[in-house]
Amino acid sequence: MDKLLVEGGRVLSGTVSISGAKNACLPILAATLLTEEECTVNNVPDLKDVATMVEILSSLGRDAEKVDGVVKVASGSISDITASYDLVSTMRASITVLGPLLAKYGEAKVSFPGGCVIGPRPIDLHLKGLRALGAEIRIEKGYIVASARKLKGTRVYLGGHFGSSVLATANTLMAAVLAEGETLIENAACEPEVKDLADFLISMGADISGEGTPTINVRGVNELKGATHSVIADRIEAGTYMIGAVITGGNIFLEGAVPEHNVALIDKLGECGGMVSERDGGLEVTVHRGRRPATDVTTLTYPGFPTDLQAQMMSLGAVSEGISVITEKIYPERFIHISELNRMGADIILEGPTAIVKGVKKLSGARVMASDLRASAALVLAGLVADGCTEISRVYHLDRGYENLEQKLSAVGAKVWREKE
Ligand code: EPU
Repeated sequence: MDKLLVEGGRVLSGTVSISGAKNACLPILAATLLTEEECTVNNVPDLKDVATMVEILSSLGRDAEKVDGVVKVASGSISDITASYDLVSTMRASITVLGPLLAKYGEAKVSFPGGCVIGPRPIDLHLKGLRALGAEIRIEKGYIVASARKLKGTRVYLGGHFGSSVLATANTLMAAVLAEGETLIENAACEPEVKDLADFLISMGADISGEGTPTINVRGVNELKGATHSVIADRIEAGTYMIGAVITGGNIFLEGAVPEHNVALIDKLGECGGMVSERDGGLEVTVHRGRRPATDVTTLTYPGFPTDLQAQMMSLGAVSEGISVITEKIYPERFIHISELNRMGADIILEGPTAIVKGVKKLSGARVMASDLRASAALVLAGLVADGCTEISRVYHLDRGYENLEQKLSAVGAKVWREKE
């Protein structure tokens, strides 16, 4: 197992090129199952989760291969309808093969993904969407077993306790494109990753409108064809580096970052001393001198502040001047990073789904443990401004979602390196 070491005290300055979005790419790769023709997906990041999705496609019998930033799924049929526990248990996004398998082949067997370290992650909305389209679904020996002779268009409301769901919208949308008749998905997720999936489906011949809004309209077609698509830039990766610029008092140009995908973060960074401006196909982040003022953050579905940047924003709050109140509305238990940040000298307490972050002048480097992908990124950001060296163990979490993190950070002046544990 590897650990990451971060020597604090460097100011980030220079250009970071933003990779393709992990959370757009994973359902798009699953969507290639909707056709037996060849598909090419470009701008694919080199990440563990992408490798897992390619492995799932291969395990289903498709000839899928990733070379550099391109995944090619060759023409051909599947040989299996089962996505096994071994693969699904390592990555929740694997559940997005359920909708395509069911729509194209009339049956699917996908391991139940279960909970994870960011709290319970139910799948009731996925099942609601597919059942509304006419699927029969049962849970058997830890697997979701789904079948349908022919899916039928319908009207389905996909709102849960915490609002819309990104992957449940993706699953329902992928099933609806081959269903008979018209489907209306209400309270659909509006995240850019859902829109990117819809754009890919449209290029395959799907008839979709309203993507990117809470009401998606799908008119089912008999068949989809192969297509080529380029994945959008990763707004969470971009956001993480934006916070990196502000926390270190630096100046970073984020090549390829899409301004409208990060409106909530840009607004918040403005409140705490950052200045974000658009230029030359990217975003420039600069910072006012002095300690940054604290700001309050509440995570919400898009275009609200993303839960996937909550932990990183907490690292910024930990060294800001004043008290930041950070409320998590998507995953109320996504706070494991608090104890690790406190090990580094932060002053954070949790009150239900709200963290009260009292800014301190300095953090100090410590041995800390990464618990999930975004918590790991938060610890790296904290390490950038801590006195001395921060040792982050279980760095495999970072490899699931940040392409070339050490190289990208080193190129803008950070001292970050990897060692064997
Ligand atoms: N929810 C339900 N029922 C469901 C599905 C979700 O109640 O059937 C709840 C969840 O428990 C949560 C809320 O709805 O409270 C939103 O969850 P959502 O379904 O939108 O999450 P997801 O689709 O499983 C994706 C991202 C996550 C990101 C969330 C929220 C992918 C592969 N994952 O997950 O990304 O946090 O949307 O934006 O797209 C990450 O990249 O680190 C990550 C966790």
